Amino acid sequence: MNPVNIAQPASGIRSGLNDPDVVSPSTRRIRSFVRREGRMTRAQQRALTALWQRFGVDAGVAPLDPTVLFGRHAPLVLEIGFGDGEALATMASTDPMANYLGLEVHRPGIGHLLLRAEALALTNLRVMCADAVEVLERQMPDDCLDQVRIFFPDPWPKARHHKRRLIQPSFVALLVQKLKSGGQLHIATDCEDYARSILSILNATSELNNRAPGHGFMPHPMHRPPTKFEQRGWRLGYAVRDILFARRDRIE
Ligand SMILES: C[S@@+](CC[C@H](N)C(=O)[O-])C[C@H]1O[C@@H](n2cnc3c(N)ncnc32)[C@H](O)[C@@H]1O
Repeated sequence: MNPVNIAQPASGIRSGLNDPDVVSPSTRRIRSFVRREGRMTRAQQRALTALWQRFGVDAGVAPLDPTVLFGRHAPLVLEIGFGDGEALATMASTDPMANYLGLEVHRPGIGHLLLRAEALALTNLRVMCADAVEVLERQMPDDCLDQVRIFFPDPWPKARHHKRRLIQPSFVALLVQKLKSGGQLHIATDCEDYARSILSILNATSELNNRAPGHGFMPHPMHRPPTKFEQRGWRLGYAVRDILFARRDRIE
């Protein structure tokens, strides 16, 4: 682990990530984020330097070994795009029997999460500053995730930007490959049009089974803490949709 990578803008994200032999063209085209550095507090900057060695995992090309990362064997929960990480810190602290891995590209948010992780003395949380598409393609072993959570992925509301939405059939195929049999995919969004698109993509994915009655949306599950982005939507009067699917058993 290298604290220098993460403490500097835009590094620690792309390290070793440009080998065209490793990334398949199908998912490489999804560019679901714009790299905005935003304002970083002194405390967040300090956290990126001082706490990275404790909680951080450098992105690269080597396959991840969750048992080595966490120093134990336990169910693995992946949160993609955790923002400021408040929800992730809450989930990890209230579910100590599971291992939590967070992926995010926004460094101030990562710094915020590292501070929370330190304050809560979390031992079951690891963080990567990296594009989830690249980590899943290059480093995540198949058949290893018990849960994937994607709360309020960037909605990209304009039609010409829909190609930037993270939840597309090629990305879902990648997630399916990484989920264990019975593993769950939980997505929440307050963009109605995106919610319907996600629901129809997942309902059309034969390896996934909708856990909601009538193949629709799920009532808000108790284990999902409110997120910062969600609370902004509440103030604007947006309705939230939860979507929960499980990976069907693999046929040997
Ligand atoms: C709309 S915000 C929601 C953040 C948080 N989940 C919340 O609800 O407050 C979406 C987040 O996903 C992150 N993100 C988008 N695409 C990503 C990707 N490919 N890999 C990792 N993070 C990504 C963005 O940086 C951003 O912080």
